[in-house]
Amino acid sequence: MTKLLRNSSISDLIANTLTATAWRFRFINSQVKLYKEAWFTPTFHELVLEIANLPPSKMPTRKMLAGLLTGWGNNHFAANLDYLEEVAKQAAKTPGPILECGSGLTTILLGLLAGRRGVEIWSLEHIPEWYTRVNTVLERYQISGVNLYLSPLQDFGGFCWYNPPFTSLPNNFRLVICDGPPSNQTPGGRYGLLPVLGQHLCDDALILLDDANREEEAEVLRRWTTESKVSVLLQEFSFGSFALVTYPSRVNEVEVNQ
Ligand SMILES: C[S@@+](CC[C@H](N)C(=O)[O-])C[C@H]1O[C@@H](n2cnc3c(N)ncnc32)[C@H](O)[C@@H]1O
Repeated sequence: MTKLLRNSSISDLIANTLTATAWRFRFINSQVKLYKEAWFTPTFHELVLEIANLPPSKMPTRKMLAGLLTGWGNNHFAANLDYLEEVAKQAAKTPGPILECGSGLTTILLGLLAGRRGVEIWSLEHIPEWYTRVNTVLERYQISGVNLYLSPLQDFGGFCWYNPPFTSLPNNFRLVICDGPPSNQTPGGRYGLLPVLGQHLCDDALILLDDANREEEAEVLRRWTTESKVSVLLQEFSFGSFALVTYPSRVNEVEVNQ
């Protein structure tokens, strides 16, 4: 028995070490690719001003976004370039309010592309120091339209999620940028979005869930699909993935319930 246990813990150790090594290798590769894409871009400061001054019909280029990411420099936590590009694309065209779970560079980009068109953004952040960092950048560049909330994580029974300012939030969010709370430190990870704030999303709202092929996020997608009947389109890239999740129309829900 003891021998069996010892063998299984050694194989677990080897498996964990191999997984960690593969993850590190992938991360380094992704950073090399990002820095290649950001080669010779202006500074973060110059890029923010350049994007703020783009005509409303013009999108920032992938190279500009790569420059923003390297300038922001929060390598382990910031969104990857493919996700950032999708956030920019959706922020530039969404007609309705945006909810963001987990603030950062995406918050700045949402303000630059949606806030200036008069589309309001509500961003939830649970770490006070991180809230201050993002808020400082928003204020420095006078980025309008972003309501950044310090929202501690709360136990909802079976999972933890942000404790949002329910009465201040609109009930017709069209777009959700779902990149928090951190799955490895939060029971249930990003699952809480639909049970806690599903009633604040409009019919056919689009949720951009980052890191969709990680184990925790795959489990969240399984639960959302079963419990809320969302439809999921997975986008996979060499250094990550995200999902375009469409929240179902509540018209059908009413018909079923009648
Ligand atoms: C994946 S990050 C969100 C990143 C954001 N969407 C962006 O593009 O920068 C999710 C959460 O991790 C936390 N976080 C961000 N940077 C961190 C850091 N350097 N150390 C610890 N936690 C961090 C913040 O609470 C943030 O809301």
